[in-house]
Amino acid sequence: MVLYRGRVREALILGGTGAIGTAVVRRLLSHGWKVTVTGRDESHVDAPLLGQGVRFRAVERTDREAIAAVLGPGVDLLLDCACFTARDARILRPLLPLVGSPVMVSSKAVYRDAQRRHSNSEDPPCFEGPIREDQSTLPPGGDGGQDTREGHGRHKVAAERVLLESGAPVTVLRPFKVHGRRARPPRGWVFVKRALDRRPSVLLAREGRGVDHPTSAANLAALVELVAEKPGLRVLNAADPDAPLALEISRMVTAHLGYRWEEVLLPEGARPELGDHPWNRPFTIVLDMTAAELLGYRPVGGYSSTVVEELDWLTDLARSNPYAPELGDGYISRYFDYEAEDRFLCRPAG
Ligand SMILES: NC(=O)c1ccc[n+]([C@@H]2O[C@H](COP(=O)([O-])OP(=O)(O)OC[C@H]3O[C@@H](n4cnc5c(N)ncnc54)[C@H](OP(=O)(O)O)[C@@H]3O)[C@@H](O)[C@H]2O)c1
Repeated sequence: MVLYRGRVREALILGGTGAIGTAVVRRLLSHGWKVTVTGRDESHVDAPLLGQGVRFRAVERTDREAIAAVLGPGVDLLLDCACFTARDARILRPLLPLVGSPVMVSSKAVYRDAQRRHSNSEDPPCFEGPIREDQSTLPPGGDGGQDTREGHGRHKVAAERVLLESGAPVTVLRPFKVHGRRARPPRGWVFVKRALDRRPSVLLAREGRGVDHPTSAANLAALVELVAEKPGLRVLNAADPDAPLALEISRMVTAHLGYRWEEVLLPEGARPELGDHPWNRPFTIVLDMTAAELLGYRPVGGYSSTVVEELDWLTDLARSNPYAPELGDGYISRYFDYEAEDRFLCRPAG
């Protein structure tokens, strides 16, 4: 048992069965923490973690009493991975005095550019450089639900504000495209599936030059542990030390899987149904990580070393259970129009 100032540190992770929760659990357990995670489905917790002592509690995120019941007094870290609206945040607010370091996972979706465009707007945003935490954000709340393209960022802003104005030492983290074991959506599947399907080529829109800064769940976990040890009222970007081009990402995947394909780099303005992928952006989006670095953030690795977690998880899952729901994610499925690609390349289908 690892003691910190004479006792075992304790963490509660709300919505702790996704990529972020899984990575944070692994990191904290390895450093001697006692960890409880909540979610709706215990089967989403990695079995080895249950064997290592992590506790699971089924708790609906909107159930104030149930959250209060699992939050013991003197919890050192409360990490909320399922806070999407001001209402969610208000449920948490009365509990914050019981917590050493409350941390909310927000999103880069809150940022808007000078033309008020954001990462989910129809018209893609164009930021002038790496985005700092003091970049303008969307107005809070509004009519659209938190699960809509227009509503998601706005409701995250509203949730952030409720917590940042609570008087507690709340850290708000703004990650970008999260990758890791149990990532939802598992964006790496776009290339892993192609390789497992032995596709002879990959088509990449905009010549694969899109950049959408990734966030490894393992790097995010390092930042979470740091802010748990240094509570404070702050907003921090949370991203990897590098932001590779989509073309580089595709090559990292094939290198890891030991597969080769022909790269078909489609020029700007090519048919939009061809070569689309999750990093397909006309303008680079990168988060400025200076604030986290000044606090002491040291990422565990760059994209090529950290993405391996997700690639191995997906490969194992595809081999053990090709019909696993994670592999049928609707967001990812739209990238696999093999017939349209074959027609374009004048190849027989199959
Ligand atoms: N994924 C990304 O690329 C990305 C990017 C930026 C920001 N974020 C932020 O990261 C957070 C999500 O982290 P993640 O990607 O690790 O998680 P995730 O894979 O989306 O999992 C969400 C977690 O929340 C739980 N959950 C969801 N709705 C719930 C409800 N109504 N009641 C109880 N539990 C509920 C889920 O439980 P079950 O497993 O039982 O469903 C799971 O534990 C969100 O705040 C999101 O806005 C994610």
